Amino acid sequence: MNHLKYLLLAVLTVFAASACSQNKSQNIMEKKKVLVVYFSATGTTRQVAKQIAKIADADICEIASAKPYSSADLDWTNKQSRSSVEMNNPKARPEIKAVSVDVSKYDYVFLGYPIWWDLAPRTVNTFIETANLAGKTVIPFATSGSSTIANSVAVLKQSYPNIKWQTGKLLNHVSEKEMEAWVSETIK
Ligand SMILES: Cc1cc2nc3c(=O)[nH]c(=O)nc-3n(C[C@H](O)[C@H](O)[C@H](O)COP(=O)(O)O)c2cc1C
Repeated sequence: MNHLKYLLLAVLTVFAASACSQNKSQNIMEKKKVLVVYFSATGTTRQVAKQIAKIADADICEIASAKPYSSADLDWTNKQSRSSVEMNNPKARPEIKAVSVDVSKYDYVFLGYPIWWDLAPRTVNTFIETANLAGKTVIPFATSGSSTIANSVAVLKQSYPNIKWQTGKLLNHVSEKEMEAWVSETIK
């Protein structure tokens, strides 16, 4: 009886080992090309973008405003501040520095931004409209004071229906473990 048990255990071990190595070789063969592209006015989203790029072994690229935002520009209590004026105008497309990345090379594009007035900043629209993202799988992520990412993603989906938008995630104070789990689940 004991012999039978050992034989069964040995057979199961061989099966488990071959399934694992097959998965491994599949992963190597199908290694996805991932890009992390982000806008960040004060550095919070940048830190998160760098973490994602490290976990996903991805290329990373910043969407830089042609004219950086000063603290006065970011004053949401002032209706005349640059950010308030831009966010009040759905057609505003602030100039950005040329982004020297060919998005067509990538299987997945993580797109990060801070939430401004429950939306993605207009610089993100400028980027989307200058990069050729049609048909690409784009995964939004954001940081915020407290707002969720939901409204910003809904508006992006509605504005750019030819992009394959994924649900996205708000990454405020997310542990490294949670971030790792989310990234690997997203690009598997
Ligand atoms: C103009 C402006 C508008 C903002 N609007 C919101 C908002 O609607 N909801 C929210 O939770 N946080 C809001 N915030 C806070 C930012 O989303 C938050 O500080 C973010 O992490 C900043 O990211 P960054 O350092 O990458 O620029 C706003 C910040 C600015 C400057």
